[in-house]
Amino acid sequence: MQKKIAIVGAQWGDEGKGKITDILSEKVDIVVRFQGGNNAGHTIVCKGVKTVLHLLPSGILHHNVVAVIDRGVVIDPEALKKEIEEHKSALDISPKRLKISQNSFIITSYHKLLDAQRENNSLEKIGTTKRGISPCYTDKIARRGIKVSDLFSVNSLKKKLENSFSESIFLLKNFYKTDCPAIEEELERLVTLGDYLRPYTCDTFRYLDEASKANKKVLLEGAQGLLLDIDYGTYPYVTSSNTGIGGMYNGTSISGGSIDHIVGIAKAYNTRVGEGPFPTELNDEEGRELQRIGNEFGATTGRKRRCGWLDLPLLKYALNTSHISSLVLTKIDILNDMPFFRVCYAYKNGDEIVKNLSPGDKLEKFEPLYKDFKKADFQIKNNELNDSLKEFVKYIENELDCPISGVSFGPDREDIFFTRDLV
Ligand code: IMP
Repeated sequence: MQKKIAIVGAQWGDEGKGKITDILSEKVDIVVRFQGGNNAGHTIVCKGVKTVLHLLPSGILHHNVVAVIDRGVVIDPEALKKEIEEHKSALDISPKRLKISQNSFIITSYHKLLDAQRENNSLEKIGTTKRGISPCYTDKIARRGIKVSDLFSVNSLKKKLENSFSESIFLLKNFYKTDCPAIEEELERLVTLGDYLRPYTCDTFRYLDEASKANKKVLLEGAQGLLLDIDYGTYPYVTSSNTGIGGMYNGTSISGGSIDHIVGIAKAYNTRVGEGPFPTELNDEEGRELQRIGNEFGATTGRKRRCGWLDLPLLKYALNTSHISSLVLTKIDILNDMPFFRVCYAYKNGDEIVKNLSPGDKLEKFEPLYKDFKKADFQIKNNELNDSLKEFVKYIENELDCPISGVSFGPDREDIFFTRDLV
């Protein structure tokens, strides 16, 4: 029986992880977020009602589940308070159901201001969400980060803020010529937010260790996708955390062994928000059609997502580097509404045909090679994939050498077919 399952995005994010996490949560006891922050946006539709979550784990929608925000996540306390308040009554968010790691790092006002200024003034735009993610992780690695537990002691927090942010304030005022709050003002704000979050805060290491010993089923929920991983992604056009396997093991506590099953989530085509290489991108009418039919707008920033065809070399790379055990393919219904579709099965680099990628490969030099498909008629009837969908799934499985464990064909919880039990 699978006791520890992880969900990871196998593209550039927005693959539908929230929906799959929500569905699998029904059968688990605990759902853990292990990386990222409120740069993420998970959209879940249940009986036509849409819920968008940024920091709260998607498992919170199920009343049987305890949701944990673990130490790999960076927390904007104001954004988290807002999200808890927004969903508190409908989702029954109490300290029994939501546990926040005392060791998670805090996104301060300075981080958000620096993120925006660096992005606005950079010659090489990343397309960040400007939520303070990168400066916060930078300070964590530079050993001057502020943890959730630091918010509970006014005197020591004041010293930490002075020590950590005097340089940032100097930069903001003198280099970027922008206003920023004084330390006293930020202190007061953070202490108030700390008071609010305190009842939810706990030693998540111990909590998860005890849960593991009690044989509880745990689901790890990734945010962003593998191609945005700081080490394995399309650097520098990435986010500032490990969205893949490194994040799973470091961002939470997997006591008593390894993860039993890593479920990769991939769309039947590709999208990307922000800058960076995208070999199969469609900069034409077809791309606009995919964007329109797939309703491809970022859940966090509302930006239009760039769209292109499914890219198997990149997907294979994501599967290998994240140790993905099986794949769930999402949004296959969108292909039914396109006049035809294509799948990139390899790249051409001069005379060389490339199917296997390595970290740091310059994607710009590759020319995608496509297999063309006629207008799709993908359906699930009587609890079975129709022949053309079966054939398509087989093709992808053979190319990737990875089983497809589920196919999602619409936004609702019900619109999914699993070919095997994942939990
Ligand atoms: P940051 O994480 O805000 O620093 O942004 C870095 C890059 O990751 C940008 O290209 C963002 O658009 C992208 N990004 C961050 N979070 C998400 C997400 O949840 N979905 C898709 N792209 C994301």
